[in-house]
Amino acid sequence: MRPKVYVTRLIPEEPLKKLQQNCDCRIWDGELPVPRDVLLREVQTADGLVSLLTDRIDATVMDAAPKLRVISNMAVGFDNVDIKEATKRRIVVCNTPEVLTETTADLAFALMSAAARRIGEGERIVRSGKWKTWGPMILLGQDIHHAMLGIIGLGRIGTEIAKRALGFDMKVIYCDRDRRPEMEKKLGIEYADLKTLLARSDFVTIHTPLTSETHHMIGEEQFKAMKKTAILVNTARGPIVDPKALYNALRDRLIAYAALDVTEPEPIPPDDPLLTLDNIVIVPHIGSASVATRTKMAMMAVDNLLAGLKGERPHHVVNPEVLAK
Ligand code: DGY
Repeated sequence: MRPKVYVTRLIPEEPLKKLQQNCDCRIWDGELPVPRDVLLREVQTADGLVSLLTDRIDATVMDAAPKLRVISNMAVGFDNVDIKEATKRRIVVCNTPEVLTETTADLAFALMSAAARRIGEGERIVRSGKWKTWGPMILLGQDIHHAMLGIIGLGRIGTEIAKRALGFDMKVIYCDRDRRPEMEKKLGIEYADLKTLLARSDFVTIHTPLTSETHHMIGEEQFKAMKKTAILVNTARGPIVDPKALYNALRDRLIAYAALDVTEPEPIPPDDPLLTLDNIVIVPHIGSASVATRTKMAMMAVDNLLAGLKGERPHHVVNPEVLAK
């Protein structure tokens, strides 16, 4: 019998076709995330689930899904899935690392440039008809070249950021749970603890997963430790930065600017105080949003799911202990 699979949003055509050739698929084709009651109903008969970071896959969903064997999350991050509960039920959880690394690093760099050179503000001035002349003092920003970049989390994306930064003649320091001497040597970058990194960096970019340890790891104390000219970039997960502390820091000019691809909550409500500030640029979680990368992510999610349903080892398993049992 063909396995039954529920897909929580429309995914690119080619991976979807592959899934449909191998499984009986039901798909939520709405523009917004699948409503909770629909998800709870649809998983009742599902052997496999293709989920997104906008879906909370917790014990309640798993309890409603007695046949569920594989959750394939189409994202590298999997903080939306309760891994402990999945492991308890021997449900394999998969993610989609690697394929989005460079695309996300590209966006982090774009955001860094947008903040440093005040691109959002400039665009608003042009569109509102307020651009009257070239002026020696108009919209002065900061240079990226030769500046100090602090990378929090030297994983795959953090490493790609470091490579890009070197192309801009930046000096790079990083902090991480584990020191990476081989990367330090290869890229000519330096290790620093978080406090030192914050104090020395002109740009701070976050590339660490969201866990209980990293939740609000950048808050009031950290903003006070940063340079007043510093620019903070977050393309990882919104809740790594305390949004109230960020608002205060930007308003009181404890730091100069922030550039966010991720917010807490998502989407950021239109009346969020952060949106009243000029010294912030925010885009709607588009780090991996290139045609090629989203297609690769969906294909990887499908391949992971199909392997798991066949009882094979998927390439990217988050809780391998389930397979070991
Ligand atoms: C991820 O994959 O975790 C990104 O946030 C979205 O691509």
